[in-house]
Amino acid sequence: MRHLIDFNDLALEEWDEIYGICRDILDRPRDFIDAARGKVMANLFFEPSTRTSFSFQTAMMRLGGGVFGFSDPSASSVSKGEKLKDTIIMCSSYADAVVMRNPKEGAAKAASLYANAPVINAGDGGHFHPSQTLTDLTTIMQCFGTLKGLNIGLCGDLKFGRTTHSLIKALCRFEGTRFYLISPRELSIPAYIRDYLAENGQKYVEVTGLEATLPQLDVLYMTRIQRERFTDPGAYERLKNIYTLNSRKMTMAKKDMIVMHPLPRVDEIHMDMDGDPRALYFKQAEYGMTIRMALLLWLMEPQREYAPFIPPFEGEQRCVNPSCITRTEPYVPVLKNTIGGESYCAYCDKQLPGED
Ligand code: NCD
Repeated sequence: MRHLIDFNDLALEEWDEIYGICRDILDRPRDFIDAARGKVMANLFFEPSTRTSFSFQTAMMRLGGGVFGFSDPSASSVSKGEKLKDTIIMCSSYADAVVMRNPKEGAAKAASLYANAPVINAGDGGHFHPSQTLTDLTTIMQCFGTLKGLNIGLCGDLKFGRTTHSLIKALCRFEGTRFYLISPRELSIPAYIRDYLAENGQKYVEVTGLEATLPQLDVLYMTRIQRERFTDPGAYERLKNIYTLNSRKMTMAKKDMIVMHPLPRVDEIHMDMDGDPRALYFKQAEYGMTIRMALLLWLMEPQREYAPFIPPFEGEQRCVNPSCITRTEPYVPVLKNTIGGESYCAYCDKQLPGED
């Protein structure tokens, strides 16, 4: 059974297959109206969402399948204190695929250990958002016909913006990518993403100014400052309007540069830009539905598979990241990755303290 927790769970040939299905759906949508007839998708949103939740729901509906779930955990047994593990075992037994968004980093990974159906990570806190990455890569492919050799600018909240983390990791796998990471210092990329760039020998620069960088870019990926992840409201107020792209600034950009945004936008892209043919963000959201149709078709199994029993972990979890799923669901097994002699939590990717 396959899950999509991180884009890098996929081999590049598998990405090609999923994108190929997406192209077929775009070319011949009528051929797919019954492609998932009789299948059911669980849509479990422990955090607010518009595009991701709606695009997964409409993706399944357009394939002729059914959908159930919640968009507010207070309306489910989670509010009675149900453990994530139990919610997932139960919902995945009813469904052929489980789409889950959760505020805790590593929540989708934890869910996948217990699920009786493929789990799709629809966002785990400030960590990853791989189905948005599929959306972003589809948009770039549709515009440039390649993912190689592009100058990619990512601008805004690169610390908490999970879509940028997933996209950076994914684009590292395509030759010749040059990253321009544009953010205030307080909102620069997390250490594990910087380590990832370094380990992959990736070309990148970190800058604070948007205007000076703009003329070099093929893709500008704007993001909003993620208010809900700030612990200090004063810091958010100080940073919230730091970048605004508008039609005046766009005169400095290449004629074929595209502007992307995972949406929702707040004020980082002025509405006077929306008529510019280089403004791709609404089209990007539309591609998001089609690539999710392709993903569902690719992931769903013809027959149910049951996850093996995992005994509850009784010791103390080692990850010190307060946003990690292991802090709130401590029964999950201890899992770590070792890279360059250092240990990282396999749920949230934060470095683990050294063992004495
Ligand atoms: C993003 C998200 O939820 O991380 N939105 C989305 O999924 N389209 C970006 C954001 O909330 O800023």
